[in-house]
Amino acid sequence: MADSILTPRSWDALLAGAGLPRLDARALLESVSGHSREWLLAHGDEPVPAEVQSRFETLAARRRHGEPLAYLLEWREFLGRRFRVDADVLVPRPETEGLIEAALGLLNAMAQDGRPADTPLRAIDLGTGSGVIAISLSLARPDLQLSATDASPKALAVARGNAQALGTAPIRWLLGDWWSAVPPDEGLFDLVVSNPPYLADDDAHLLDPALAHEPRMALACGPRGMEAIETITAGAIGRLSPGGWLAFEHGADQGATTRACLLDAGFQEVSTRSDLAGLDRITLGRRP
Ligand SMILES: C[S@@+](CC[C@H](N)C(=O)[O-])C[C@H]1O[C@@H](n2cnc3c(N)ncnc32)[C@H](O)[C@@H]1O
Repeated sequence: MADSILTPRSWDALLAGAGLPRLDARALLESVSGHSREWLLAHGDEPVPAEVQSRFETLAARRRHGEPLAYLLEWREFLGRRFRVDADVLVPRPETEGLIEAALGLLNAMAQDGRPADTPLRAIDLGTGSGVIAISLSLARPDLQLSATDASPKALAVARGNAQALGTAPIRWLLGDWWSAVPPDEGLFDLVVSNPPYLADDDAHLLDPALAHEPRMALACGPRGMEAIETITAGAIGRLSPGGWLAFEHGADQGATTRACLLDAGFQEVSTRSDLAGLDRITLGRRP
């Protein structure tokens, strides 16, 4: 490594010698150099400034040790927008875009359901992390009255920063353990949406080097992995307006247990939707 820092190398040589998939290496090199892909292609045989080379070598080594690319770049794209992420928040997943699609469908249906024009729809995102769900909903429907919670103050700080950078309507940020973060006088919501932690504490996936870098509390929630979904569901029925919806993202093997959980709590019109891979991913239920 010391030798590679001291020896000037070309852009092409740096990419080829990174020991990373080409796409990852290129994304890191674009990030540390500030140059576009086209520029790097056109100038591949020119020498790389020592400082850029050194920063690239450091990030490439971290990537080789399994750190998510999003943490190294400090952003992840979600629904066409860049969200800032760091090791305090889950890296947003493409599957969660399906939850936004489902939530917007429910909100649009409720909006067209003969509501008085001066009664805004109210929604809450429980366990907001980087804020991708609340912020995407707010940008799609600036008329929504939105709240978002997390038990991690650091995650809430990231979410607030993203909301500010992306220019959302005001969102109410609430810190605390699931429903205890939401003051009892907050009123009823038309939509409760959540992508909670849903792995069991001993799930083998947690040993995967990619997941090992993400906050444990964003991934696992108890011995069965259903504890967060159960707590949110139990509290949701009393926090939703009649006809309001609860929408979860969950693990591919949790469709049946999540439906059973919602039905036990008194929800109706309970159904599960698949993700793009055809796996159970989103379960919805309506307060009677
Ligand atoms: C799977 S991550 C989802 C983050 C983000 N909503 C997304 O979809 O990318 C779950 C989030 O729930 C939060 N969380 C975990 N336990 C919590 C609790 N008891 N109360 C509130 N939030 C919690 C975590 O900090 C994390 O941000």
